[in-house]
Amino acid sequence: ALHGPATDDLAGRHVVVSAGGTREPLDPVRFLGNRSSGKQGYAVAAEAARRGARVTLVSANVALPTPPGCEAVQVGTALELQEAVEAAVDAGDVDVVVMVAAVADFRPAHYAQSKIKKTHGEGDESAPVIELVRNPDILAGLVQDRAGAGRPFIVGFAAETGDGTGDVLELARDKLQRKGCDLLVANEVGVDKAFGQDTSTVHLLRPDSQEAVTVGPATKDVIATAIWDVVAAELG
Ligand code: CTP
Ligand code: CA
Repeated sequence: ALHGPATDDLAGRHVVVSAGGTREPLDPVRFLGNRSSGKQGYAVAAEAARRGARVTLVSANVALPTPPGCEAVQVGTALELQEAVEAAVDAGDVDVVVMVAAVADFRPAHYAQSKIKKTHGEGDESAPVIELVRNPDILAGLVQDRAGAGRPFIVGFAAETGDGTGDVLELARDKLQRKGCDLLVANEVGVDKAFGQDTSTVHLLRPDSQEAVTVGPATKDVIATAIWDVVAAELG
């Protein structure tokens, strides 16, 4: 109602949206995490529900109310997020997956059952080294596993700061190719950009087009609307 005329162009569709940021535990009181607030993912889920979709919202560590019309599944770690997304997709009726969540690329190789202590005896000044192992790439796995060509339609997000090897758009174009998804939403991130903010700028990239559609600086609701405009047109 807040967002202009009601559309129901996603009626009858089942969409899965992952949101938030995973936390990888080191011991019962500590984890490796990231700055994702979940705002963009929740906006994507809310907009899909508004347009008539059935929405499964796989939510990792988000302190926001579940948007109306969404069914939330709470997860903590990358492995739990993978299990929840794959369980939803395996049910067979999913039309679209949008991976907005910031998924940890690595997790601690070992989990300490009790709190890690600072010292191991008198005069011990040593510091531990945290060994990491890779987490599975959930998005790439979804692309690989999909049986029928083009279903579900898979959307990835790319958090990019730009670096010595390329600007945000160049890095995103490479990432789209690597992941093999159907739409990549490249998000310009930085200390005060995107994470936790109410507005951001994104570039929508398609594998079959050199042109990127830039949206923003805009609210995360406006960005969510632009994403579903593209996806709904694609679903036909
Ligand atoms: N993603 C995922 N599984 C992971 C890491 C990321 O499914 N283990 C998804 C994210 O949800 C996002 C997309 O992949 O939709 C891109 O995430 P990003 O961190 O930007 O890309 P990476 O491939 O992890 O590359 P890098 O962090 O090195 O830029
Ligand atoms: Ca990553």
